[in-house]
Amino acid sequence: MFFTKTDDSPSGSIANSIAPAQHKPQRPSLEDEIVPFTLIPEGVRPKRFVVALTGATGSSVAVRLLQALRALDIETHLIMSKWAATTLKMETDYSPDEVRHLADYSYAPGDLAAPPSSGSFIHDGMIIVPCSMKTLAAVRIGFCEDLISRSADVCLKEGRKLLLAVRETPLSDIHLENMLFLRRAGAIIFPPLPAYYIRPESVDDLTNQTVGRLLDSMGIHTEGFARWDGK
Ligand SMILES: Cc1cc2nc3c(=O)[nH]c(=O)nc-3n(C[C@H](O)[C@H](O)[C@H](O)COP(=O)(O)O)c2cc1C
Repeated sequence: MFFTKTDDSPSGSIANSIAPAQHKPQRPSLEDEIVPFTLIPEGVRPKRFVVALTGATGSSVAVRLLQALRALDIETHLIMSKWAATTLKMETDYSPDEVRHLADYSYAPGDLAAPPSSGSFIHDGMIIVPCSMKTLAAVRIGFCEDLISRSADVCLKEGRKLLLAVRETPLSDIHLENMLFLRRAGAIIFPPLPAYYIRPESVDDLTNQTVGRLLDSMGIHTEGFARWDGK
């Protein structure tokens, strides 16, 4: 086998190569090189949540949450599954379009090119409310077939808050195991269960208390709903 010395000098000849002193690159030092990064100033980016509705029962909780976020001036990016739209029509007098209008942005569940599909889209967390056992299972196995499961997957990989308002009763081994797995993966498992200690006078009282506690879990502490004060 023959080995030849590689000659990649412009002239094609080692003998003609430039002397070492002139060969020094003409560039700024590493410390002086200009890079494009500047800090996003505090408070410039609005607080924003991704909110996903799936086909479990409990659409009123999702509607109240969207109303609350709107009142709190928190930007919302909404994804409504096909079955969420159906359940909403069965359970309430609201149309899917009316609910979409509560959000600042709304995306089709099949639009995997929408902003929440990418980790580079910065937000403050995702709430799936109500969360069906089907979507729970998809998130658990990382099966990103639609924008809801993909956005949740992104939250987990980016270490962002992900709250699943899981709704089913009774719960099977599969449901419970999926919840435990996701809890250990960093998700908040938040079944939207009523707190009877508030002595509710209406379903609305229960819904408000659930939404208030859900917001607590997302780090948004509000007044205006019943909290336990020891009495
Ligand atoms: C009125 C109604 C209530 C439902 N409630 C639940 C429920 O509480 N939990 C659940 O996991 N699925 C429930 N389902 C079934 C889901 O809608 C179904 O599994 C669907 O495929 C979920 O899809 P999605 O997660 O993409 O929305 C309900 C369906 C209907 C029509």
